Amino acid sequence: MKKYLVIGNPIEHSLSPKLHNYWIKKKNINAVYDKKLVNEEDIESVISEIKNEKINGINVTLPFKKLVIPFMDELSSEAKESQSVNTIYLQNGKVIGHNTDISGFELGVKYSKYDVKNKIVFILGAGGVVSSIIIALKKMGAAKIIISNRTKNKSEDLKKIFKELEIIEWGNTPNFDMVINATSIGLKNEDGIKLDYNVVGLGKFFYDVIYNPRETIFLKRAKLFGNKTENGKMMFIYQAHQAFTIWHKSMPEIDEETKNLLD
Ligand code: ATR
Repeated sequence: MKKYLVIGNPIEHSLSPKLHNYWIKKKNINAVYDKKLVNEEDIESVISEIKNEKINGINVTLPFKKLVIPFMDELSSEAKESQSVNTIYLQNGKVIGHNTDISGFELGVKYSKYDVKNKIVFILGAGGVVSSIIIALKKMGAAKIIISNRTKNKSEDLKKIFKELEIIEWGNTPNFDMVINATSIGLKNEDGIKLDYNVVGLGKFFYDVIYNPRETIFLKRAKLFGNKTENGKMMFIYQAHQAFTIWHKSMPEIDEETKNLLD
């Protein structure tokens, strides 16, 4: 039986096992997908299990997407560019680090029928997933990307990689067409985002990477002000879909039941 894992810390709330095991069962594959709580010092030994084929694939979540990189034999171009790995597998005896968050975000935004081309996009947060979001936005033809993070030097680190980024102070509201909450604010139904809605205007696109809760205060308020909203559910499903397809060489279906699994 093949074995797959998602590693992170914390990990108990990860819905990846639910999604992958659903597809595994549906496709009659002899495999199991578990979650494993790891600390930084455990990473090397967990990844060595890929090499000896005791584990056949690993998904990596916070806060290890960058930390796993030194243990990879090769990085895909997406992983290299984003310096972020969320999917690991063995290919020709080599441990490959890949990133499916980039296409996950791109497909998630397209699913909501929003066209990023020539739009001004404002990103809140500078955590692990933001480099993937920036790459996807550039690919989709965003005109300008503005970023704001409570800890400014993290935005500055991103600007070293993505020179075209514009950094603004945390709490300021620039002119934008689309705003993305990539902070963890909202996970606990708290309200730490200070957007000036008089400046925002009407009919903008509010996107939250968070999908549990389904509607954060950020999205609720955006709706009240008459904006279009979307949560991170489809991004999550698409990144898993791509990892599954790579590992099992078989593309699962994203049907209503799949989507309902995460509600
Ligand atoms: P990591 O930073 O380890 O990659 P993350 O969950 O991907 O973790 O990122 C958390 C993001 O949410 C960060 O941008 C963080 O801001 P800091 O860099 O200043 O820590 C942001 N964040 C979390 N709680 C916040 C809060 N109460 N106010 C503002 N930003 C917050």
